[in-house]
Amino acid sequence: MITCNSVEQLRSQIKAWREAGDTIAFVPTMGNLHAGHLSLIDIAKQNATRVVASIYVNPLQFSPDEDFESYPRTLDEDLKKLEQRDTDLVFTPESSIIYPHGEQRSSYVDVPELSKIIEGEYRTDFFKGVATVVLKLFNMVQPDVAVFGEKDYQQLLVIRQMVEDLNLAIEIIGGETKREADGLAMSSRNNYLTGTDRENSCFLSVALLQLKTQIEQGISAEAAEDNCVETLEKYGFDVDYVTLRETKGLDNVSKDDIANGVELIVLAAAKMGKTRLIDNVRFVVV
Ligand code: PAJ
Repeated sequence: MITCNSVEQLRSQIKAWREAGDTIAFVPTMGNLHAGHLSLIDIAKQNATRVVASIYVNPLQFSPDEDFESYPRTLDEDLKKLEQRDTDLVFTPESSIIYPHGEQRSSYVDVPELSKIIEGEYRTDFFKGVATVVLKLFNMVQPDVAVFGEKDYQQLLVIRQMVEDLNLAIEIIGGETKREADGLAMSSRNNYLTGTDRENSCFLSVALLQLKTQIEQGISAEAAEDNCVETLEKYGFDVDYVTLRETKGLDNVSKDDIANGVELIVLAAAKMGKTRLIDNVRFVVV
């Protein structure tokens, strides 16, 4: 496995692979890798002959009150895990390479509307930071395929829209959410959870599945969302949102949409103590 932090080295290796007829799949990450990230590496491997991953904690997607400084950085362990998974190259750029003029003076890309709703209402410039760094990484790696987790479903849609809007020749593939045995969606931020907070955090996925069952039973979206919030609060969550949407553009859904088999997704964000968790469940009412 090649590890590199220079764009020149990255580009010359990718060029050599392309000349040899290889195709490139790319998995961008912020490190502190878990089985969810590694499942994306496996998907990448099934879709190209070479797999490139990146590890970069992107300051532009953290607001000043978020955990940029304390975000877990575990490069040595991450590299071992990627090597075991047969990753071909890991790109670990410094900020001076990603933001040569400083992150606040950088050109940026903003996907309008979709970036402003749901998660974007709580994290104002988050998707601008994500879209910008992902476009930069795409331009550096120039992959054929890139893989993103469905756990961050709105992020996946923002990237898909950016790729379409800006005519990038990159196929975006979604990977299903990997979970702990009790249902908690794997996340680097789960490391912050201890004791009863960790125990109760599994009720986020439990409450979303309960909402799905209630929608299937014909309970209205509003009532099911309220019940879900109530369950989450009972287990100690401070809820930002629980919202039932359709999966293509995250629009609100009507009773008719639900009855007509539109694919649905319930998205939620809630804090357990100081740790903010997100999760979602996708389903169709048959
Ligand atoms: P990060 O949180 O490190 O996640 C990297 C990739 O792993 C994302 O595509 C994310 O959706 C996926 N992922 C995280 N948890 C997962 C799980 N439990 N199951 C499956 N996939 C999971 O998301 C980011 O980094 C950043 O925003 C990034 C796209 C790298 C831009 O900085």
